[in-house]
Amino acid sequence: MLTVAENELLARTGAGTPMGNYLREFWTPAVRAASLEADGAPARVRLFGRNYVAFRATDGRVGFFDEECPHRCVSLSLARNEDNALRCLFHGWKIDVSGRLVEAPSEPPERQESFCAHVKINHYPTREAGGLIWVYLGTRAVPPSLFDLEFARLPESQVDIRRAVLRCNWLQGFEGTLDTVHAGILHVGWTGDPGRRWEGAQGAELHVLSRNVPSATIEFEPRRYGFREGALRSMPDGSCYARIRDVVLPYYSFIPTPGGAACFVTIVVPIDDETHMQWYIIYDPVKPIAEAARARLMADTSGDRDDFASDLGGWHNRWSQDRALMKTGHWTGIARPLPFEDFAVQEAMGPIMDRTREQLGSSDVTIVRTRRLLLEAARSFAEGKVPDVGDHARVRALAIRLAGDADWRQIDTLAPPASLPAPAAAARRPQIE
Ligand code: FES
Ligand SMILES: [Fe+2]
Repeated sequence: MLTVAENELLARTGAGTPMGNYLREFWTPAVRAASLEADGAPARVRLFGRNYVAFRATDGRVGFFDEECPHRCVSLSLARNEDNALRCLFHGWKIDVSGRLVEAPSEPPERQESFCAHVKINHYPTREAGGLIWVYLGTRAVPPSLFDLEFARLPESQVDIRRAVLRCNWLQGFEGTLDTVHAGILHVGWTGDPGRRWEGAQGAELHVLSRNVPSATIEFEPRRYGFREGALRSMPDGSCYARIRDVVLPYYSFIPTPGGAACFVTIVVPIDDETHMQWYIIYDPVKPIAEAARARLMADTSGDRDDFASDLGGWHNRWSQDRALMKTGHWTGIARPLPFEDFAVQEAMGPIMDRTREQLGSSDVTIVRTRRLLLEAARSFAEGKVPDVGDHARVRALAIRLAGDADWRQIDTLAPPASLPAPAAAARRPQIE
């Protein structure tokens, strides 16, 4: 449970807020790189309660400006994109990709040059890595380094990126990605049903390991970037099922995938206080993601990579919940792509969850820890302390069955020992109760 002031500090990210200032000090994943075409349509981007425009210039560079034209504030997302510049439709002002006004046809020719030199345009540095365009919205004259995350070093063929836009505060989304115990309960309609296309043996294993042993002992190792978590389940055969993962401040959650599937990380970014985006990034560190696997991933969503939960629904249709289906054994009644179950519960907490009213249990220890770290980080930043982010080179999540006396802290997740065998096939395919 938090105080009102703590909840406000964590949730609010608009201009001038401590959390907003802190989050802006990191490179923010803003748009999918492939969604910007040279001389193509500019993208409207909303982050931390402000609107921006992103575009790819003729030569491939990316420009990132405040959305409004510096003249009379028309949206530059409507502008012409040509000749390495945006040209506003209204009076033809031309702003080059580096953020300089280079033509203002509404002014007399003889004073255009001096006029242009005096017009200020808010533009922001960008980087392109891991299939994303990252923008720096902070105040440092020299931006920090981009995080050295594994997926950001891989070729496009090994990374699959999609985004959901949700109608609730960012911290509800982030906390959802931190909650290890819900997997075998909320998602039992997926993890316990061998007929569903997502999971195969992985989901069945998750069912046995999470649903049949839903509670876990959760331990931590502090890291400069956040912490490493070991969620440990003692299995009936004496082995230990360990879900080991990193939580990287300010909003990265690396999620173990059972059965040796590709790696998975979520990035949860505020759009404004009552809306946020969740990037779902699946990556294979060693080989391209097969086309069939990509197609399957997309079939589980509505198909729009930039808003894959656009037909999520809401209170008006209770997120498509089907009560008749629940009577026949489906846990949530939300027979939609698996992440929609997550999104429904996150939105159903309300636009900004009131954390003064919750009553937490032992399984919420990861959320408690993350809140504490975020509060400390935002307060320290407000006092002038630069975030200490550490080294991300060996961040990777792992789900593994270990001997009962093994120490999960000794596991190098990039070079793990062989996992103990999965449970017997019959035990891996239980009926949904
Ligand atoms: S409003 Fe953009 S040029 Fe006038
Ligand atoms: Fe989930």
